[in-house]
Amino acid sequence: MDPALRKIPRHLLQLRGMDAGAIRAMLARAAWFDEQGPTADLLARKTVATLFLEASTRTRTSFQLAATRLGAHVVDLSGPGLSTSKGETLADTARTIEAMGVDVIVFRAGESGAPHLIAEAVGCGVLNAGDGRHEHPTQGLLDALALARARSLTETFDFRGLDYVIVGDIASSRVARSDVAVMTALGARVTLVGPAAIAPAGLTSLGATVERDFDAAIERADAVQMLRVQFERHGGRGVVSKREYRAGYALTAERARRMKPGAVVMHPGPMNRGLEIDDAVADGAAGLPRSIVLDQVSCGLPVRMAAIECAAGLSAAGEMG
Ligand code: CP
Repeated sequence: MDPALRKIPRHLLQLRGMDAGAIRAMLARAAWFDEQGPTADLLARKTVATLFLEASTRTRTSFQLAATRLGAHVVDLSGPGLSTSKGETLADTARTIEAMGVDVIVFRAGESGAPHLIAEAVGCGVLNAGDGRHEHPTQGLLDALALARARSLTETFDFRGLDYVIVGDIASSRVARSDVAVMTALGARVTLVGPAAIAPAGLTSLGATVERDFDAAIERADAVQMLRVQFERHGGRGVVSKREYRAGYALTAERARRMKPGAVVMHPGPMNRGLEIDDAVADGAAGLPRSIVLDQVSCGLPVRMAAIECAAGLSAAGEMG
């Protein structure tokens, strides 16, 4: 057995610190699911619960579809009406869900670290679907799979020589943290670009370079991942002016035309069209670089199939060639 397979954690809580071999093994498994399509018997008789305490379109839906494609039963516990509103702790909520026979809890919360608390409270698998400003590990993995597909690197997931540029509200972004972890583990050089208020220099501690000049960074990028400006996490403090932000950091058609041949445009969604990215760029209009925004969404399914399989306690080892 590939020793890297032993290092895939059952709970997928964060990518930072995860073994590069384990990341590649998970991505290889996702690529296998991508080719294979639905495998409706792998998780028959297993139950996956989605518990989202923050809004989601892509992540919640694709976790549910991924579980269904594996043959699992899915229960969605998201939205208002949970007994947490009566003072129940998250740990008690998680233990209660597990006591009903749930095998995997997929959890999104506004508080950084909340999935770790749940993982300590239960014996079933826990998957972090995004926690506060901390991490969004399956988003990082799906971004890596989408980039590997775009660059024909799904055999090796070796990103050495690639320049990955993340632009925007890095401080608020759990996607940025997971992306830095996965892209650097695979060998890419990662640059974080934005104004100091939302891309502070201290972010170099993540293992990336921080730059202010988007116009310089864009010319060497192999992939540009645009982030949404998360005004709702700024506490109404007016951290950035929309006019100044657009002038310095929007991916306009004019900027996109300066990207290298073969470079791709990415965005984890949801997008603020007309603010951080223009319609023509997001949609990959003729004459502009290829947009893989919807490929990123599609890659969420196989990545989440691989994550659910591990969290259910089913090693991918027996299935991988
Ligand atoms: N990218 C992402 O997490 O999107 P959702 O908030 O729609 O799940």
